Amino acid sequence: MSTLEEKYKVFQERNQAAELGGGKDRIEKQHSSGKKTARERINDLIDPGTFVETDKLVVHQCRDFEMDKRKISGDGIITGYGKIDGRLVYVFAQDFTVFGGTLSRTNADKIVKLMDMSMKMGAPVIGLNDSGGARIQEGVRSLAGYADIFYMNVMSSGVVPQISAILGPCAGGAVYSPALTDFIVMVKKTSYMFVTGPDVIKAVTHEDVTKNALGGAMTHNTKSGVAHFAAEDDEQAMMIIRELLSFLPSNNMEDPPVKPCLDDINREDEKLQTIIPADPNKPYEIKEIITSVADDHNYFEVMPYYAENLIIGFIRLNGRPVGVVANQPAVQAGVLDINSSIKGARFIRFCDAFNIPIITFEDVPGFLPGTIQEFGGIIKHGAQLLYAYCEANVPKITLITRKAYGGAYCVMASKHIGADVNLAYPTAEIAVMGAEGAVNILYRNEEDKASKVEEYKANFANPYKAAELGYIDEIINPRETRKKLIQALEMCKNKVRSNPPKKHGNIPL
Ligand code: HXC
Repeated sequence: MSTLEEKYKVFQERNQAAELGGGKDRIEKQHSSGKKTARERINDLIDPGTFVETDKLVVHQCRDFEMDKRKISGDGIITGYGKIDGRLVYVFAQDFTVFGGTLSRTNADKIVKLMDMSMKMGAPVIGLNDSGGARIQEGVRSLAGYADIFYMNVMSSGVVPQISAILGPCAGGAVYSPALTDFIVMVKKTSYMFVTGPDVIKAVTHEDVTKNALGGAMTHNTKSGVAHFAAEDDEQAMMIIRELLSFLPSNNMEDPPVKPCLDDINREDEKLQTIIPADPNKPYEIKEIITSVADDHNYFEVMPYYAENLIIGFIRLNGRPVGVVANQPAVQAGVLDINSSIKGARFIRFCDAFNIPIITFEDVPGFLPGTIQEFGGIIKHGAQLLYAYCEANVPKITLITRKAYGGAYCVMASKHIGADVNLAYPTAEIAVMGAEGAVNILYRNEEDKASKVEEYKANFANPYKAAELGYIDEIINPRETRKKLIQALEMCKNKVRSNPPKKHGNIPL
């Protein structure tokens, strides 16, 4: 019979072996390729001293390819729970030093167990991905593991926030778990995501493309819209996740966390009085208005590099997190197109699912004309944005800073689709279309079009017609924007509104 001392020694040795993962050489290789290890990443992510590891001693059950002789405790994935800013989160981190972080059956079971727990306890799940994909030795058992995770991702969607960091390879079907989560953070230079890699592409379509150009962080942040954030390195990726979570409730039954606000809620900003140019065709930077009104001027932008004609992100107003959706007049005049519609729709649905009020800053000349847009399905994609706004029953506040023309007026959280408070600046122009377009149609054969344009501008390119009809609740001085938005938000605080019962709607995907 072994002594107590021996028993504790075995316990210690087994822990140490698990913590060493794939061993010193592979850890060094990981570091020399510019990546941190799974444990180091968790250390950066989680509040110090709060991480509790689960299933540390789990090993795979594979016997093929002599795998029964190669077992490493933990099996290439670290799972557990801990705190971020004192709030519970669940985390799994693929350990590339163990079998390339590949997914085995037991490895998938660890993730599924964690996700099940996160739903029961109502706390976010964070996945740190760095993996060679399906563990080839395990065959279909690995694929089954992926499918189980996908199912859990979908069941968790809208119940707890799900965040993915891509910190190395993520290829083939493995991309679909992150793709089903709410936010993806990628790291420049070291991470990539693709369904089929450069070699397969070369063989099938004869295209030459590097891994980075095909699926690197900036590709997915600028071109595909798959990723929401690009970090310089692993550490920054963890900081982004921490900041993102500070705006989110832990689950769909909670309100977002309120932070004490030291910023004056009546703070006025004289600069805003002149921010909208007198010439309606001149651009301006909408982020200046957003940062001006936000608590401590803190604006956390989501998808900053994609479809920049519509911007999305989080701010706090009197300590309460809100989601911001804003047309960006500085990019393509803030026009709505396919990409911006999809970007906005998904963000609105996220905010609605997690009880985050939505503030819309509107300056939109309309939808982008052209065959590319029409053939690409601007009808259905624009409808997605419209659907998302209509369906959202969180507090919705809209501020029209300048243009609100045509269908875009209706879509961008107008009173008619359920906005609770609709404000406008005196510079707002709310009409079916711009003056020149309207005059060309109404006075096609008229000689003196210029005077008709002026007449139309004076009568229709303003907020007063809409205000006379009660479609705008209040016309405000730009300097008071912060105060007015906070008042509106507080007024909506106890909003109770639910949509008719149904299995689910049919958003035009
Ligand atoms: C088993 C794997 C593996 C895999 C890597 N390894 N991929 N083991 N199954 N899929 C092992 C390697 O043998 C090696 O083991 C260790 O992980 C590190 O891999 P390296 O090749 O040395 O590292 P690196 O040079 O950095 O290259 C990483 C890589 C490459 C780009 C990921 O390993 C690679 O291309 N792997 C295959 C990727 C792949 O095709 N996966 C299947 C995709 S299909 P040792 O013991 O030497 O350290 C898929 C389907 C999912 O995932 C479907 C879901 C629906």
